[in-house]
Amino acid sequence: MERALPKHIAIIMDGNGRWAKKRFLPKKIGHKAGADALKKLLEKVEKTDIEHITVYAFSTENWKRERQEIDDLMNLLKDYIGQYIKDNETSNLKIDTIGDISVLTEDLQKDLAYLKEISKEKTGLSLHIALNYGGRDEIVRAVKNIANDVKTNNICADNITEELFSSYLDTKEYNDPELVIRTSGELRTSNFLIWQSAYSEFYFTDKLWPDFTFEDLQQAIYSYQKRERRFGGRLDSQC
Ligand code: FPP
Repeated sequence: MERALPKHIAIIMDGNGRWAKKRFLPKKIGHKAGADALKKLLEKVEKTDIEHITVYAFSTENWKRERQEIDDLMNLLKDYIGQYIKDNETSNLKIDTIGDISVLTEDLQKDLAYLKEISKEKTGLSLHIALNYGGRDEIVRAVKNIANDVKTNNICADNITEELFSSYLDTKEYNDPELVIRTSGELRTSNFLIWQSAYSEFYFTDKLWPDFTFEDLQQAIYSYQKRERRFGGRLDSQC
């Protein structure tokens, strides 16, 4: 039997740089093409029953890139956020972020806070943008908060369970992704949702992110629907 549509899909949008290089264009144009591809994709995803999309926009490791590329990415993000703020009245998209955004410029933090606030009552697709996000960093932040709550007697160490731990993560308000997609032929998770993807299905494609379309997403979903998910159990034990 085919599986239902995944409710939460997470995407590692990789290959913007190679897309630009193939065209003898600056990296900045590749990232802009990547942002446009995401916008176009979301317009179609909004019409489906998919409830959550998480995208890896800037990792804790991306700070190692050249200053110019980092600035270009931050400016692109500011434009992207600005566009959604402008379109808020006519859009039903709900947008928030995961990751430690306290290190971003005050300007960008303000825009993000404003966008989160004005879109929080929206009932459509939720877009979670991973910004200065790293799975290890998220886990370390969660451990620090748990340790603090143990110290102040808000929780008892014996009561720490997987569920409680999950409730300290940035993704506490929604379910883990059933499907994680990575473009550009790389076969790594690169510190993306490492706790949450423990039982996710992975789909890798050679397509570079700016070329990734809704039809490619359908292909990924089709591949996911054909697989068996056993969560460590046996299919026959469920009969
Ligand atoms: C990886 O491609 C991609 C990124 C580091 C940034 C992803 C950002 C976007 C798609 C656009 C901005 C997003 C939003 C939400 C506005 P790469 O540059 O590492 O590609 P390469 O491996 O081919 O060089």
